[in-house]
Amino acid sequence: MASASLGLASELSSFSKTNFLSSADLKSSQILSLFELAKQLKSGNRRIDLGNRVLGLIFTKASTRTRVSFQVAMARLGGQTVDLNPQVTQLGRGESVKDTARVLSRYCDALAIRTFSQQDLEEYAEWSTIPVINALTDLEHPCQALADYLTIQEKFGKLKGINLSYIGDGNNVANSLMICGAMLGVNVCICSPKGFEPSSNILEKAKSLSKNGSKITICNEPSKSVIGADVIYTDVWASMGQEKEQLKRKEIFEKYKVDQELIDLAGKEVILLHCLPAHRGEEITDQALESQNSYIFDQAENRLHVQQALLAVQLGGL
Ligand code: CP
Ligand code: NVA
Repeated sequence: MASASLGLASELSSFSKTNFLSSADLKSSQILSLFELAKQLKSGNRRIDLGNRVLGLIFTKASTRTRVSFQVAMARLGGQTVDLNPQVTQLGRGESVKDTARVLSRYCDALAIRTFSQQDLEEYAEWSTIPVINALTDLEHPCQALADYLTIQEKFGKLKGINLSYIGDGNNVANSLMICGAMLGVNVCICSPKGFEPSSNILEKAKSLSKNGSKITICNEPSKSVIGADVIYTDVWASMGQEKEQLKRKEIFEKYKVDQELIDLAGKEVILLHCLPAHRGEEITDQALESQNSYIFDQAENRLHVQQALLAVQLGGL
C-alpha cells in the first residue's frame, strides 16, 4: 500500500466499526481524511471491495438522495442493502427498537437510519452491535454536512476561513452545518427569523468544537448575513414532520428567500448550496437554483462519494 493510503488508513482506523450519529462524532482530522478517500473513490483512483457486506436501511421518512446514494455506494463497494422500511417489518406493528436492533445486528453489517427523534436513533445504537449511521433525524443530518463541506473544499481548495451564510430555518441541516463547519475552521452564520434560530444547546456545542478560529454566529437579517459570504446555503422552510406549519412558515420566512438580489449582495464568486429537495419559488428562486452560482447538483452527487468513503471506513475496508 502506498504511504498516502497508509496515512489515511491510520487516521481513519479509530472510526472503523463505530457509530455516526452526530457531526461531532468525527474529529476534524478524520473528516479531512474522509474527504481525501472520497476524492480518490470519486476519481476512480481507488477501489475498495467490502466483500458482500450488507447495509440495512430503516427509513421512517421519505428520501431520494440519502437512500439511493447509500444503495449505490454499497453496490460500488461490492456489498448490498436491504430495505427495512417499518411498513414491511414488524417495527410497523410495534416491535421494540431494543429487540429489532439486536436481531438486525445478527444479519446486517451496519444500519443507516432516518427517523424523527435523535433519541430513537441513539436507542438503536445502544442495542446494536454493528455501526449505526444517522441518515437524518429532526436534530441532525451529518452525512449531508460531509457532502456539503466536500463540495466547498473542491470548489475553493480549502475550508479554513471560508464564510458560509445559511439563510432559513435553524433545523437539522443547519445544526450539522454549524457543528461540522466549526471543526473545519469555517465561519458559519445561521440567519433565521426570530424564534426559528438553532437551539442554544447546539450553538454552544458548535462553538465548543470550533477550530482554527472559526466563528459560529446567529443573525436575523439576510442582507447582512451574506456580505462577504463565499457560500450561501438554504433548505426548506418546513421540514418533514412540519407540514402542518407550511402555510404559516411561508409568511414568516418570506424575507429569507435566496434570490438574485441576495446573490448580488454577496458578489459574483459566491456559490449556492441546497441539500434538496427544494421548494422552488419559496426558499430559493428558480433563477437562483439554475444560476451559474449554483453547485447544488455537484453537492447532491457528493452524497454518494462521501458516504461510500464513510461506509468503507466503518465496515473495515481500509
Ligand atoms: N438531502 C437529502 O437528504 O435528500 P433526501 O431527503 O432525498 O434523502
Ligand atoms: N430539513 C429537511 C432536510 C431534508 C433533506 C427535512 O428534515 O425535511
